[in-house]
Amino acid sequence: MKILITGGSGLLGQYLNIELSRQHQILTLYNSNFGTCKDFNSAKLDITNKSSLQNVFYDYNPNAVIHTAAISNPILPDNISPKDVYKINVEATKNIAELCEKFNSKLIYTSTDLVYAGYLGLMLKEDAKLIPASLYAETKLMGEIKIQNTFDNYVILRTALLFGFGLSHSKNHFKKMFNDLKHNIPVKLFVDQFRTPLSLKEAARIIDELLSKEIKSEAINFGGTERISRYQLGEKVCELTGLNKNLLTKITMDDVPELAKVEDVSMNTDKLKSYGIKQKKLDEMILETLNNN
Ligand SMILES: NC(=O)c1ccc[n+]([C@@H]2O[C@H](COP(=O)([O-])OP(=O)(O)OC[C@H]3O[C@@H](n4cnc5c(N)ncnc54)[C@H](OP(=O)(O)O)[C@@H]3O)[C@@H](O)[C@H]2O)c1
Repeated sequence: MKILITGGSGLLGQYLNIELSRQHQILTLYNSNFGTCKDFNSAKLDITNKSSLQNVFYDYNPNAVIHTAAISNPILPDNISPKDVYKINVEATKNIAELCEKFNSKLIYTSTDLVYAGYLGLMLKEDAKLIPASLYAETKLMGEIKIQNTFDNYVILRTALLFGFGLSHSKNHFKKMFNDLKHNIPVKLFVDQFRTPLSLKEAARIIDELLSKEIKSEAINFGGTERISRYQLGEKVCELTGLNKNLLTKITMDDVPELAKVEDVSMNTDKLKSYGIKQKKLDEMILETLNNN
């Protein structure tokens, strides 16, 4: 297949470059960072530039687009306004969906578990109430709606917390936690935030598997099988590696008032399984992540 990846320089995108290039032709897009894109067929493109985006579709004519590019920061950097977030997460997503329809390309869109109402319960199914608590989550949900209103050859993946080691420039919480623990630096982790985490490597592998399935017009929970707090995830990493658990400090969401409070968006992944996707256990994903580091 010919696959176009947006956000190829992102945390997930860099893993997708490696995974998808094994069996497919890829064109991977970056904007301000190269990441692993420099090792693959790649192009620099601001996805808010509609005519450049259109040229890419004309020139490359992809069978499928994996759209991961987004402003994904929970707290906005100074140089990015809410309007920019809307342009990138909503308008560009709409344009990509329209181009996918025009060029007969399948669209896989990485949405987020944060579209769900985080105060309502646990192991949420796809029909659970959608109440995003942040600008990021709200614009990701608007992206979903723009796609659904455009055409039907899409798969929306409501993606859980992705863990692993960010490649090249990519900074992420798991990488920092692991490095701090290794250097005997205390690490603060939430005891009151529950997720169903998925490793970056496994996320890229499953997206590759989903490409070959005949799935259309579906929003699917895309996470691991185990509900766990961020603190418990830290404990697991320590147990599996022998790192010092005593360095972990319990904090609650009240300790970080600037972050949107999203208590529990753990997700039920029966629908994902129903497509024949075999999920790895959390321990297995952590060990695989650590062994590949
Ligand atoms: N990471 C998680 O735990 C998680 C959880 C749930 C859902 N998701 C979703 O998964 C996707 C990937 O997340 P991530 O963590 O990999 O994000 P990330 O590391 O923040 O990467 C974002 C990507 O978007 C690109 N981008 C931003 N603005 C752009 C623009 N105007 N034009 C072109 N590209 C632009 C960035 O390119 P440059 O760096 O080159 O500028 C980068 O490649 C996102 O859609 C996110 O909503 C992630």
